[in-house]
Amino acid sequence: MVNLATRYMGLNLKNPIIVSSCSLTHSAEGVKRCADAGAGAVVLKSLFEEQINADVKALADSSVTQFHTEEWDYIQRIGLDMNADEYLKIIEESKEKVDLPVIASLNCVSNDKWTEFAKYIEAVGADALELNIAVMPRQFDEDPDKIEKHILSIISNVKHNINIPVAVKLGPYFTSMPRIAKAARKAGASALVLFNRFYQTDININTLEHESKNKYSTPAEMSNTLRWISLLYQQIGCSLVGNTGIHNGEALIKQILVGARAVEICSTLYIHGLGRINFMLDDLVKWMIDKGYETLDDFRGKMSFKNSKQPDYFERQQYIRAIVGID
Ligand SMILES: Cc1cc2nc3c(=O)[nH]c(=O)nc-3n(C[C@H](O)[C@H](O)[C@H](O)COP(=O)(O)O)c2cc1C
Repeated sequence: MVNLATRYMGLNLKNPIIVSSCSLTHSAEGVKRCADAGAGAVVLKSLFEEQINADVKALADSSVTQFHTEEWDYIQRIGLDMNADEYLKIIEESKEKVDLPVIASLNCVSNDKWTEFAKYIEAVGADALELNIAVMPRQFDEDPDKIEKHILSIISNVKHNINIPVAVKLGPYFTSMPRIAKAARKAGASALVLFNRFYQTDININTLEHESKNKYSTPAEMSNTLRWISLLYQQIGCSLVGNTGIHNGEALIKQILVGARAVEICSTLYIHGLGRINFMLDDLVKWMIDKGYETLDDFRGKMSFKNSKQPDYFERQQYIRAIVGID
């Protein structure tokens, strides 16, 4: 008998497929649809830091009076509360409708007053919070160490406000992934979601306008996630979740083989529909029966860097071999 249950940041998931933050989880009804389709957990569509701040600014701009500091503080708080209303309602309603972990999501760039919003998220019953930290360095003299410290301060500031587990969804562009991963753990992350997929920018040569292209990932984009989950598995003391380019059962199996506690999927659900969840789980079950595995722990991390019989596969030696072999 195959058991697909997995523990992720102290949460019990009936299976390792989490619906990633996207418009499919933008409402309690959407969350219910994901639950009915067999998801192990859901990450709600992100509330953007700018959404919180925009409401605050709109209020301030609408007034002709100059605010004193206390009034400004008060208005900022109202701004937070107004957003809390909408977002918190989705969390509350989702928790009423489904019996699986509901993970809230905040998309952030600054370490500002908005971090207090996390308190409200915990108060209405979210099981965990995922932070999508998307800092885009643009200054030519910006110190990389300072950027990393900024990211870490967001994590510790949010964590300071709440007791529920915090997952951090990181992008793939760091000079030292092991260092930032370990530091994120130390700052309070219970899990790392690797990797965020930033929106794909493009330009139109006919209209000379900016465009966003390739909204959905392809299976070819999974390799970087595979590498880093493998390299970090059991090295930094927190759960690892695969994200980006996981489109089928084979990809799901590979992620667990390199050490993932679970995967977050999104593009494949937009392309194939929510039925894709059970389709992928069926493939996982068939493969486990074929291999004689009863639980995910029977094979989790078997192909990680730590446990691999060919650890160099993820490192330079193999890279040289591959490149030399091309000609
Ligand atoms: C339509 C759409 C909306 C998304 N919205 C969010 C969001 O609000 N917050 C977030 O962290 N990621 C968001 N994402 C990114 C996904 O959660 C996921 O990280 C990314 O698509 C990579 O996973 P995939 O390859 O399975 O699609 C969105 C993706 C799509 C396609």
